[in-house]
Amino acid sequence: MKKLGIIGAMDVEVQTLKDKLQDLQITQKAGMVFFQGKLENTPAVVVQCGVGKVNAALCVQILCDLFDVTHIVNTGVAGSLCNDLDIGDFVVSRDAMYHDFTCHILNPAYCVGQVPGMDVLAYPADKALAEYALESAQLVYPGHARMGRVASGDQFVAAKEHKEQIIADTQAICTEMEGCAIAHAAWRNKIPFVIIRAISDKADGSAYVDYPTFEAAAAERCAKVTQALAKRLSDA
Ligand code: ADE
Repeated sequence: MKKLGIIGAMDVEVQTLKDKLQDLQITQKAGMVFFQGKLENTPAVVVQCGVGKVNAALCVQILCDLFDVTHIVNTGVAGSLCNDLDIGDFVVSRDAMYHDFTCHILNPAYCVGQVPGMDVLAYPADKALAEYALESAQLVYPGHARMGRVASGDQFVAAKEHKEQIIADTQAICTEMEGCAIAHAAWRNKIPFVIIRAISDKADGSAYVDYPTFEAAAAERCAKVTQALAKRLSDA
């Protein structure tokens, strides 16, 4: 039986999903509130983890240890790293990589993103889950979704030079602040994951204005896709 752990960093990213849960039970741990119930008939736990990599990883571990989730879905907004991904479009993770993890001064073999001791540079999303997520995005907003790499770091990216550096280092198509930490923690627990993100800004000088303008609408679009994914999984 599937049980989804659905994580968003901010309230705006999970509010509508929490409202849709049936048979609700609420639990608190590590300052996070876990909303457990059924989403589109699929058992699910919806939680706001807070911003950044540490909050995200902590949340995954709690979902694994206390809630026995079988799949992890990260829903939220992201900055676009690619000209053909516009505000409101979707990215489904093929894999996820850190753009701010740098140990190459220690050893040039550690390229940007590589965590020493980990056997992967980019954590691969579950193929079937990612395909379902892409189908769900295409169903909700046809023609607006792409699968690709997600680059994460504890940085809000809002400068052209920073954006170009991240693209050169990671070849990712969007950037945000939790996805790879969720992927990394899920990988260590051998739990399949997928990241679904709606674009809120272009991660350049325009992000200061676009992010606050489009954050809520993009987060809501992404929640709709996550809900469609839950429905898809209940039918699967
Ligand atoms: N989330 C949404 N937009 C972002 C950006 N430009 N940088 C980091 N995280 C984001």
